[in-house]
Amino acid sequence: MGKFVVLDHPLIQHKLTIIRRKETGSNEFRRIVGEIGGLMTYEITRDLPLKDVEIETPIGKTTQKEIAGKKLTIVPILRAGMGMLNGVLEMVPTAKVGVIGMYRDEKTLKPHEYFCKMPKDVSERECLIVDPMLATGGSAIDAIGALKKRGVKEIKLAVLVAAPEGVKAIREKYPDVDIYAAAEDEKLLDNGYIFPGLGDAGDRIFGTK
Ligand code: PRP
Ligand code: URA
Repeated sequence: MGKFVVLDHPLIQHKLTIIRRKETGSNEFRRIVGEIGGLMTYEITRDLPLKDVEIETPIGKTTQKEIAGKKLTIVPILRAGMGMLNGVLEMVPTAKVGVIGMYRDEKTLKPHEYFCKMPKDVSERECLIVDPMLATGGSAIDAIGALKKRGVKEIKLAVLVAAPEGVKAIREKYPDVDIYAAAEDEKLLDNGYIFPGLGDAGDRIFGTK
């Protein structure tokens, strides 16, 4: 069974509280979503495998460590996942980026995919899906399905706010996927919003409401 980890580092918790506040404007909201994305990536990559490399410093030869193993692809789910992307890339600047466009039907809450562009070698890479909100889990489940269809074997998901219902849905459908969240909230409301949540992440990042 994959992990479900709440990354409750004090900096992450503090920043999350700022973006939960309804009076926080798009400029600050957008900046902090990126910052939390970066801090989460720092934690998520903690167990990346290392290998020995021989190098030469200006003083002499030495054996040091560098990251081994599969290369990473970051997969933001449009739109709101884009808000996390720059912060994540600051931690792993050599990662490639694959984009999935998805919107939820406001009535049925079912996701609809409208765009998907992955690196050619995505099946040989580990993928980290990023999206600030995990509500019913429908969007993340479809994104995971789209990656599996393309042969990706190692998939992680990073969200800022997770509803217990969404976590459960993913763990039932894709038990091999590790889920990382900055917080697990109380519940999903009938209208599809997470309580207490932070509202509509996409609208708050892009200032579209
Ligand atoms: C939001 C959010 C997730 C999805 C989560 O996107 O960014 O992708 O809802 O809900 P789910 O777990 O119930 O699928 P939305 O569809 O509002 O699109 P946007 O990012 O373009 O605003
Ligand atoms: N998507 C959002 O942006 N916010 C929620 O609370 C749920 C889904």
